[in-house]
Amino acid sequence: MSTASTSTPRVLVYGSVNCDEFFVVDHVNSRAQLRQRECSIVRPGETISSSSYSRRAGGKGANQAVSASKAGASVDFAGAIGADGGWLAKELEGYGVGTKQLLVDDKVATGRAIIQLSAKDADNSIVLFPGSNFSGNQGRTFDWGSYSHLLVQNEIPWAETVAALAQARTAGLATFFNPSPMPTQDQLRAFDWTHLDYLLINEGEGQDLLVAYGAEPAPGQPEETLLRLRTVLASSTTIVMTLGANGVMAGLENGDVISAPAGRVQGKVVDTTGAGDCFTGYLATLLVTPATTGEELRPLLATACQAAAMCVEKAGAMESVPLRAAVLERMQ
Ligand code: ADP
Ligand code: NA
Repeated sequence: MSTASTSTPRVLVYGSVNCDEFFVVDHVNSRAQLRQRECSIVRPGETISSSSYSRRAGGKGANQAVSASKAGASVDFAGAIGADGGWLAKELEGYGVGTKQLLVDDKVATGRAIIQLSAKDADNSIVLFPGSNFSGNQGRTFDWGSYSHLLVQNEIPWAETVAALAQARTAGLATFFNPSPMPTQDQLRAFDWTHLDYLLINEGEGQDLLVAYGAEPAPGQPEETLLRLRTVLASSTTIVMTLGANGVMAGLENGDVISAPAGRVQGKVVDTTGAGDCFTGYLATLLVTPATTGEELRPLLATACQAAAMCVEKAGAMESVPLRAAVLERMQ
């Protein structure tokens, strides 16, 4: 476990920011027309109208930076937008996220997701354009002395993520990695886990990691998954694995496995988008005071779960992350 070199905790999130564009495409004129269609999203060669359009700020890096800020952290977001992404910088600033490490690469478009959604059935389709997230984040260096924590995902060039973790760890920062989307098996096998304090994954990513290291997956058995991950990763990394409506489990350095139940959801589950990002930003913030034993970590996991449960009560990702005070109030 590394300890923060600065006295005031300051989190750097280095990752993706996207313009998420939502098109609702249930616009068919008759039931007969609907029956003829295999699905309600656009098919090859077809043109259909969208009945609604909305644009939201997204990207795992930006979502997690906003979550850390709402949790009470002092946080800077490092990433890259295109010339069309000024509104994203403003939105992040509106959530209290520092943008002095946010670059503008005006030769490319901001990274985006074009999402077709069907309100009538479960169909959706997503086209991702990495855009400025890849071209703008190349060979970047940071003044590590200004930060106590680094939080990264996997939506920017892999080499950047790996280099940032190594440099941050050498500089004495605590490091958090949410490997989502999953790196390739070759990337994972070459990854140096000694640079990592906290690995933050969901169940599916846990199974993917076991497979990447040639271990037998254990779907539906989270405790067994954590024990197997501990043997293949063979490092001091604390492994935190979220389990959707079942809360979270963590595999500690000493081999213990602890858990916290999901938070209480008021009303019904509206939208689980961004619940993982909410959890991750919250937990990184709560760990500003390093916790190494089960008894210290468990209440932090419970608080992050309560925040994520409140996130699923509302539509959207960063906009549905609750403020720390609201989370604490709900836990009383
Ligand atoms: P991801 O969205 O990354 O796949 P999970 O589905 O595991 O991650 O969800 C992350 C966290 O969000 C969970 O640990 C839990 O705290 C919370 N969460 C997700 N779904 C629910 C739910 N239906 N009810 C309550 N909490 C939930
Ligand atoms: Na939500």
